[in-house]
Amino acid sequence: MFLRILFLSTAYLLIAGSFPALPVWAGGGNDLADLNRKTPLSLLNQGKNLFVHYCAHCHGLSGDGDGFNAEYLDKEPAELSDEKFQSKKTNHQIFRTIKKGGVGVRKSHLMPAFGNTLSESEIWSLVAYIRSFGKEDLQPVFLPQGVNTERPLGELVSVVSIQSFKEWFREEGEKESTIQAGEKLFKKKKSCFACHQLDEEGGRIGPDLSRSGILYGPEWVYAWITNPQAYKAETRMPDMGVSSEEARFIAAFLNGLQGEAEETPEGELPYLQATGNPENGKRLFFDPDGKVYCSKCHRVNGDGGTIGPALDHAGTRRSPVFLLESILEPKAVITSGYSTVLILTKDRKFITGIKKFEDDSGVGIVDKEGKQLFIRKERIKKYKTQKISMMPGNFKELLDVQEVADILAYLKSLKLAEFSSEATEEK
Ligand code: HEC
Ligand code: HEC
Ligand code: HEC
Repeated sequence: MFLRILFLSTAYLLIAGSFPALPVWAGGGNDLADLNRKTPLSLLNQGKNLFVHYCAHCHGLSGDGDGFNAEYLDKEPAELSDEKFQSKKTNHQIFRTIKKGGVGVRKSHLMPAFGNTLSESEIWSLVAYIRSFGKEDLQPVFLPQGVNTERPLGELVSVVSIQSFKEWFREEGEKESTIQAGEKLFKKKKSCFACHQLDEEGGRIGPDLSRSGILYGPEWVYAWITNPQAYKAETRMPDMGVSSEEARFIAAFLNGLQGEAEETPEGELPYLQATGNPENGKRLFFDPDGKVYCSKCHRVNGDGGTIGPALDHAGTRRSPVFLLESILEPKAVITSGYSTVLILTKDRKFITGIKKFEDDSGVGIVDKEGKQLFIRKERIKKYKTQKISMMPGNFKELLDVQEVADILAYLKSLKLAEFSSEATEEK
């Protein structure tokens, strides 16, 4: 059957010049009027951008199933460019898989659901783009009438639900049964393990979570996984429709992961014990003529540079110990998405910067002055990821204990309103 359709459609292409309006085959469940139209280019382009952002790390840029993350998955990401896949699946089936994820269509939990993150029209654009890996004119894709073009906003975590999470956590958070339930959700039921690594196992799209208990506060994990887009609109982590009960168990499981228990190094204690002045910390942070000028690279509420990650709610997300470590020894933990690459070009030049993207044509990086560079594949002789940070490593020498404590106090003050203790005490 498939061969016949293919044959007919090739025949159609050959004779298209002489009979432009002749509908030769019926495809895709679209209206009759659509039969001899092609997928609109604007839909394909939209789909391509979304695919590169959300899908290519597993499925590969050309849908061949060979994204960099594929080798860490127990189940191979579908080869979307494969002819069998293209002929067997209807547009609606592909739409459903993307919307509901593997679990929603009795496939592997490692395929995440995107229906809580993307609008229906965006999902259709992905279907259109996936068709372009095969013979796109076999089943052209059009936006169905009345399709929703708004992204679902997802539930915002309220002051009340954070308060009730904290109370629950105090009672239940460290119980063995709680932690086991969370582990099962993380590894077997939800898609977390497809993107996050625990002790060398699991995907590499998001940060390694083996030491979550040290890196993040449990309330933050609870809020973040319930609705990542509320805190970072463009994050690659989808909203998986995790219920508040599931989020509790997962947050408790991750909180139990402490990595190798490390004592706070004695050298760091004076910084943590000093009482910081957040006003002065803020001044140091933003002062272009000062010793450190953090805002050259970091934004807070839209103000500052983009070389480093935004620190908008650093005080909620990160523990004080982590923040201090980031200032004194930036290379100890490199924030995901900010690893540095060293490129050696064929004309023997070294270029370093933060890798922002990579495709068949080359690698895009940002250097430490914030300049964007694109290096074409033909120019590259060798390149490797380095365990260094673009953040200067000499703040310990430049700043005295009081100044570090001031900056730390400023970072700790950067909280989301619903997390600050005043807000929770009011309710
Ligand atoms: C973390 C890795 C990962 C990401 C990200 C991912 N997928 Fe998948 N996808 C998978 C895996 C694994 C499967 C195979 C599931 C199975 O066969 O049980 C799959 C299967 C599929 C299938 C085919 C299911 C079938 O009917 O055989 C489609 C279509 C698909 N993905 C589309 C997408 C799109 C579109 C995106 C981006 C919006 C995306 N995927 C993102 C891992 C991923
Ligand atoms: C498709 C890949 C993907 C899936 C599936 C996924 N994540 Fe993520 N996750 C990410 C990425 C990417 C980030 C980095 C966030 C950013 O800065 O955009 C992240 C960040 C995080 C963080 C750190 C947040 C912070 O403040 O830095 C936690 C905790 C987390 N994810 C937990 C989970 C849990 C639990 C699940 C399963 C319910 C999950 N993730 C599923 C990709 C994913
Ligand atoms: C030249 C640019 C630059 C300057 C200046 C700089 N940083 Fe950074 N910072 C970075 C980069 C890049 C990263 C991400 C890589 C890493 O984790 O080291 C980072 C990471 C961080 C993190 C970790 C963020 C997270 O949640 O993962 C913190 C906190 C931080 N910086 C604070 C500061 C403070 C405070 C200052 C000033 C005292 C400062 N930075 C100055 C570039 C810079």
